[in-house]
Amino acid sequence: MSESVKTVLPESELPRHWYNINADLPVPLAPVLHPVTHEPVGPDDLAPLFPRAVIEQEMSTERDVDIPEPVRDVYRQWRPSPLYRARRLEKALNTPARIYYKYEGISPAGSHKPNTAVAQAFYNQAEGVKRITTETGAGQWGSSLALAGAMFGLDIEVFMVNVSFHQKPYRRAFMESFGAQCIASPSTLTAAGRAVLAEHPDSTGSLGIAISEAVELAVQRDDTKYALGSVLNHVLLHQTVSGLEAMRQLDMLDDYPDKVIGCTGGGSNFAGIAFPFLGERLRGGPETDFIAVEPASCPTLTKGKFAYDWGDTGHLTPLTKMHTLGSGFVPPGFHAGGLRYHGMAPQISHLTDLGYIQPRSYGQLECFAAGLAFARAEGIIPAPEANHAVKATMDEAIACRESGESKALLFNLCGHGHFDMQAYTDYLAGHLKEEETSAAEQSMALAGLPGV
Ligand SMILES: Cc1ncc(COP(=O)(O)O)c(C=O)c1O
Repeated sequence: MSESVKTVLPESELPRHWYNINADLPVPLAPVLHPVTHEPVGPDDLAPLFPRAVIEQEMSTERDVDIPEPVRDVYRQWRPSPLYRARRLEKALNTPARIYYKYEGISPAGSHKPNTAVAQAFYNQAEGVKRITTETGAGQWGSSLALAGAMFGLDIEVFMVNVSFHQKPYRRAFMESFGAQCIASPSTLTAAGRAVLAEHPDSTGSLGIAISEAVELAVQRDDTKYALGSVLNHVLLHQTVSGLEAMRQLDMLDDYPDKVIGCTGGGSNFAGIAFPFLGERLRGGPETDFIAVEPASCPTLTKGKFAYDWGDTGHLTPLTKMHTLGSGFVPPGFHAGGLRYHGMAPQISHLTDLGYIQPRSYGQLECFAAGLAFARAEGIIPAPEANHAVKATMDEAIACRESGESKALLFNLCGHGHFDMQAYTDYLAGHLKEEETSAAEQSMALAGLPGV
């Protein structure tokens, strides 16, 4: 096996297709339901929110979906991204495991999110849309859509979860540098925001609330659509570009993962790295394990219910069957802002329910400790979200040390932490604490499920 650290593909090997796992599901997904009639939604129901091409992808069962050339042209600014062999971390852990990580932090926004932002901006522009509204948690998704909006000449309006808006002022500056507007959510601009503020004037906000605000504005104007940065099938589809590249890169190294690991907020990052390999397993390939890692304070997959729920707090979105903590659940203001979502992608929920994905959760303190150990070995400071995958990978590598097995572990290093240094400052100063949510809070939020 090669002694190299990075495996880099030439631009000519940038994938030409995304991989759609709907083609290989052993049991199809439950239908998406209209929030009022509870009947399955059709393309016309989604038309006020998304461009036609995106709606087609949402419902598609075609295995290989062409990546349009204008999207590949923008991808070339940073893709293909490198696959690292974590030789220095392996040495630090004294493990026989072979640790690989795909590094998505080299994108201009610093995470995996531009993989879908660029595609969604392209499809909107191609259908004459002028303005896109969206929400953002940690600011990574808003930054990515702002960047993509600048590439395709679109106005972008971002509702940023209040706690992150204040934790990360430079994310706002980043979005505004690309010409986007960034608003703290809940805001007074929408009925959904005003309703939350009336009850909780100091609301920390949540992705569920910010989604309601963005959707409310999008449906008010014909030239405006809405974009979501995770959860939906088409978003997960666009992210598979990273897993497809990783597969090719591991092939060059004559290796294949025993375990694929990713952090899960709404699920798109995990799907991006895992689905191409999971698809091979579903088609009779190797019995790879898939580990989805979430925060203990927003334990959607490990403690949520697999049920129909709204995607947002204001109940404007369709109902999807997913693991959920309830649309009224407001997670505590812990530092992995991108993982603060009450629901989980239906595809990931479904595959977890079928036993193909093993979820696990960690507290934020152990994740920051793992992130620092990783940084000190590999020289890259991970985003707090990515630290969850780092922690799980390190645990698996230590298990290999104890059992003497040399397993191949692959994880997605989905972003760098350069905008998250306040979180690291707080951690290093001993100011961070575990943000627990009580069982009572969780069951209260679950009590509001639509009962479909
Ligand atoms: C760096 C980073 N990693 C992971 C996530 C979670 O991503 P997903 O919703 O795709 O699971 C986010 C979300 O904002 C993020 O910013």
